[in-house]
Amino acid sequence: MKIFKSTSENDTFNAGKWLAKRLKGSEVIAFYGEMGAGKTAFTRGIADFFDLGNEVCSPTFSILNVYASNNISIYHFDIYRIKTIADLESAGFFDYLNKGIIIIEWSENLDIESLCNNIIKISIKKLENFNEREIKIDFGSN
Ligand SMILES: Nc1ncnc2c1ncn2[C@@H]1O[C@H](COP(=O)(O)OP(=O)(O)OP(=O)(O)O)[C@@H](O)[C@H]1O
Ligand SMILES: [Mg+2]
Repeated sequence: MKIFKSTSENDTFNAGKWLAKRLKGSEVIAFYGEMGAGKTAFTRGIADFFDLGNEVCSPTFSILNVYASNNISIYHFDIYRIKTIADLESAGFFDYLNKGIIIIEWSENLDIESLCNNIIKISIKKLENFNEREIKIDFGSN
């Protein structure tokens, strides 16, 4: 477990870069945290580390955004509107498993644990002060 205290969007972005350095390239990352917590900001840090940072936005209306280069692919899901594993499967989740880094926003919506093993779970909590966040990264059995 790694815990960051963030006081700006840039801190959260940098926490994403911190994690990205430690990734092999085929992990599943599940975010927990309310609207505006900073899930996409953290994702932007991950993508930036792999020089894919410019394109990142919340795929709320598309369910999935893909950022890719010759070296690495990032599959960025936002499952705010997805309520079943079958719907996630329709969006291609299992096709992308082990093909790149999978990132899921709104993991609260599904039984994420049932999807695969070794999921990195990240919860981002808004604290009392406007820009403050607590970011907990749980590497599970890794
Ligand atoms: N410490 C912080 N870390 C991250 N974002 C912050 C922080 N403080 C303020 N913010 C602001 O909060 C917002 C975070 O937006 P972001 O899109 O990353 O959230 P999200 O968790 O992905 O939300 P959604 O569920 O709507 O997709 C931004 O407007 C950002 O400027
Ligand atoms: Mg988002």
